[in-house]
Amino acid sequence: MLFCTGGSGSICSAQTKALVCLGADAAIIGRNVEKTERMAAEIAASRPGARVLGIAGVDVRDAEALRNAAQRCARELGSIDYVIAGAAGNFLASISNLSSNAFKSVIDIDVLGSYNTAKATLPYLLESARKYKNEGRPTGDKGTGGRIIFVSATIHYTGLPMQAHVSAAKAAVDSLSNAIAIEYGPLGITSNIIAPGPIAGTEGMERLAKSDEASLEKSRKGIPLGRMGEVKEIADATIYLFSDAANFVTGQALGTKHLVLCNGYFYTDEPKVVDGASWRLMGGTPGSDWQYPDFLLTGAHVEGVKGGKKAKL
Ligand code: COA
Repeated sequence: MLFCTGGSGSICSAQTKALVCLGADAAIIGRNVEKTERMAAEIAASRPGARVLGIAGVDVRDAEALRNAAQRCARELGSIDYVIAGAAGNFLASISNLSSNAFKSVIDIDVLGSYNTAKATLPYLLESARKYKNEGRPTGDKGTGGRIIFVSATIHYTGLPMQAHVSAAKAAVDSLSNAIAIEYGPLGITSNIIAPGPIAGTEGMERLAKSDEASLEKSRKGIPLGRMGEVKEIADATIYLFSDAANFVTGQALGTKHLVLCNGYFYTDEPKVVDGASWRLMGGTPGSDWQYPDFLLTGAHVEGVKGGKKAKL
């Protein structure tokens, strides 16, 4: 069972449709009632017998609305095994044309929205991870579960004019995914990022580039493969990350540029590894008393340092 925010959008609907064709049931979560329900019906039609809920009127900035959506999804479809945090906001605006509220809107939709999605669904993903234990062996008919993907972007690796708000937001989304890989890896959950580049026919492209042939040709020339990506190619990456082909892949981004030219030097922005997120712990852990992962697994709150307190959840 898949829970997907932004599921009526061009990329997330293709991801959902691909998983539904392979046998999953799904719930797509969206703000717009008409668009969400229409897309749920369209996705359901892609496989006889598929159950696809369109849970509309939900803004990912509203944590309670997402908790209710996750509850409904688990109640009506039985579980949540896969999550795609795909809801996002974008428009082109220079900093001089970007109000504080405009910046906050994108940060809230992308960052807070992704956090709310993860918080609402992690209890179900934990159940799923226990059921579909990830032991590195082929899972065959048993399947996989306990997996989350964040749909991010590539623009923040380098920067892009008129995208300060989105670059800041997507950098935070990437960090959030990595934090989940670290904190929930010991409980069997994998968390990864898919970073779509320019993908043809998407709302994102409509918002970032003009669609006349001359502009499109200019965009294509800037891509070594000479063409834009297809939504199917993002769906393929999704299938990989949710399949047992990616059992040991967590804390990673699919779509990251490997080499970045900076001040005349090439450097890799981050290792591309299949390591269960081991390298992400190279920074160590805070303090000395909070042994990893033992402290996390107790569920206890932090005490004994300034600012440590029990949260109201
Ligand atoms: N340039 C500059 N500022 C803009 C803008 C633009 N193109 N579009 C919206 N804003 C500003 C608004 O003026 C407002 O700021 P203000 O209060 O200072 O005037 C602020 O952003 C919030 O706008 P509002 O329309 O109230 O927010 P919203 O929450 O309804 O919409 C957006 C959020 C702006 C991100 C909207 O584009 C959206 O809903 N996008 C979702 C779909 C999407 O972007 N998909 C592509 C994903 S890649």
